Amino acid sequence: MRTHYCGEINESHIDQEITVCGWVHRRRDHGGVIFIDLRDREGLLQVVYDPDIEEVFATAERVRNEYVLRVIGKVRSRPEGTKNDNLATGQIEVLGKQLEILNVADTPPFQLDDDDVSEEHRLRYRYVDLRRPEMLKNLQLRSRVTSLLRNYLDSNGFLDIETPMLTKATPEGARDYLVPSRTHEGSFFALPQSPQLFKQLLMMSGMERYYQVVRCFRDEDLRADRQPEFTQLDIETSFLDEDAIMGMMEDMIRGIFRGVLDVELPTPFPRMTHAEAMHRYGSDKPDLRIPLELIDVGDIMAGVEFKVFSGPANDPKGRVAALRVPQGNKLTRKEIDEYTSFVGIYGARGLAYIKVNELAKGREGLQSPILKFLPDEAISTIMERTGAEDGDLVFFGADKMFVVNESLGALRVKLGHDLGLVSEGWAPLWVVDFPMFEHDEEGGRYVALHHPFTAPQTDDPAELQANPHGMLSRAYDMVLNGTELGGGSIRIHKADIQAEVFKHLGIGDEEARDKFGFLLDALKYGCPPHGGIAFGLDRLVMLMAGAASIRDVMAFPKTQSAACLLTQAPSPVSEAQLRELHIKLRKKPSGEAEKA
Ligand code: AMO
Ligand code: AMP
Repeated sequence: MRTHYCGEINESHIDQEITVCGWVHRRRDHGGVIFIDLRDREGLLQVVYDPDIEEVFATAERVRNEYVLRVIGKVRSRPEGTKNDNLATGQIEVLGKQLEILNVADTPPFQLDDDDVSEEHRLRYRYVDLRRPEMLKNLQLRSRVTSLLRNYLDSNGFLDIETPMLTKATPEGARDYLVPSRTHEGSFFALPQSPQLFKQLLMMSGMERYYQVVRCFRDEDLRADRQPEFTQLDIETSFLDEDAIMGMMEDMIRGIFRGVLDVELPTPFPRMTHAEAMHRYGSDKPDLRIPLELIDVGDIMAGVEFKVFSGPANDPKGRVAALRVPQGNKLTRKEIDEYTSFVGIYGARGLAYIKVNELAKGREGLQSPILKFLPDEAISTIMERTGAEDGDLVFFGADKMFVVNESLGALRVKLGHDLGLVSEGWAPLWVVDFPMFEHDEEGGRYVALHHPFTAPQTDDPAELQANPHGMLSRAYDMVLNGTELGGGSIRIHKADIQAEVFKHLGIGDEEARDKFGFLLDALKYGCPPHGGIAFGLDRLVMLMAGAASIRDVMAFPKTQSAACLLTQAPSPVSEAQLRELHIKLRKKPSGEAEKA
């Protein structure tokens, strides 16, 4: 139907007759002459209709926004003074000779160049939203990234292998999406939270190197960088240690950035232990573009009278930390109150601060509601240790360690953005040496920091048994600009260590057999040392596109409440369907339906 795409026409086509198809982006009636900006995937093209071909002109007059057209015309140079250097096709235009309306369109639900459309409206009419050049650009970028990733892995001997979607629950830590079985009454499949166990089984099958661009499903609280279904680039290898895997993976990511953005990332990526990341940044995914750091002051506060500080300072599970904000003195009372509410989201019960007006004046040169609780010596040690200067502000957090880390870690990032302290560019790093286990305060038990198949930094079950909670794992996370891009590990490949890990997680023999019997069996039939990683493809593309949310790099994402506004899913189903699936809906008095 066409000879060219709209966006590819340029001065080299002058005097040629071309045929193009596309949507009416804009139509302008300039008293006797009609201008149509025709849009297709590759760009915009200005088409001009003069009244001399009467019939064609009459058709052009009927055209409205988002009509679908087929245009035949001759390319010509735009008259001087009307050229548009901001548009790829801005030097030329097409003098329309024929015009076919392939389809009409209702008035669109919103104008494509209106930046003020609610996301709900955009998601409801996603097919219109995706016509916007930014959205198209994001999907094009995504396609290019995926293609380069595949090329890299294909040429490094990785096999693309599919794994089941209807499967058994895998312990990735979120709630499962369940699918009721019609043929097995009362039994359910789980949609995979990741292909973790299957990719390990593929190593046990001798596949050596596996990858898959694969959809994963997790029923968890959603955020800007989390969706209930998302895509992983999932990878597993045999006979490679963590250095080899990390080296190859960063080589791959460097190649993507070079190929798509023409950006050279550092070789090698810096590495930081989990302990250092938590200590300095209060986060296991630190954004190294932000220069602020947490500084421990617990030793100084241990002896002060102020219980808010001395309590956590003397608690082995507590932490008292300071965060110096250069030039933070200018923060107003109201702004400080807002930051106090902000850290409250992370469980902090307050946010003490000292404003540094003039250090030389000692106590008199400082301003703070907690000054009265602190002796001179404590104050001067704090000032010295934080490196505070005139004009700065120092924030303090005192609480359980995880509360201080989460709240000051988040505050650090927020301040970095609010105060314009984030440096330009890309800051990748590996976080390594994670603890094997962490204590789940709510559940009152130990859970795996990564997943239960992650190998400890020992081959000896006795050593693990002797010191389970001081044991580090062979896990690694790739972090970019404060986002966890990917995570992986060397896996357990011996049955005795796997049994020991299950034991520490409170997974008894029976439960282990019931949930992971197939894996435990496979470990006995010749399992090679193996390890891998999974990248969040949506997150990678989000960062590369400079998008604010992964929803902007997914064609059909779900809302914060895990619904699809376009198709209205999830939706009720017929009684008959439910009956087939052996599900009875019982109406509760409140009218709420409950699955029986
Ligand atoms: P993990 O659970 O860390 O590891 O997931 C790997 C990566 O997937 C991305 N990700 C998400 N992206 C969007 N929405 C979500 N809800 C979401 N959850 C996770 C993140 C994350 O780094 N099987 C292991 C990997 C392994 O050990 O090889 C796993 O799934 O970018
Ligand atoms: P209060 O004595 O409760 O008025 O608190 C004095 C100051 O300490 C206020 O600025 C509070 O925001 C701050 N504060 C209270 N609890 C904490 C805490 N757990 N960590 C840090 N600062 C706190």
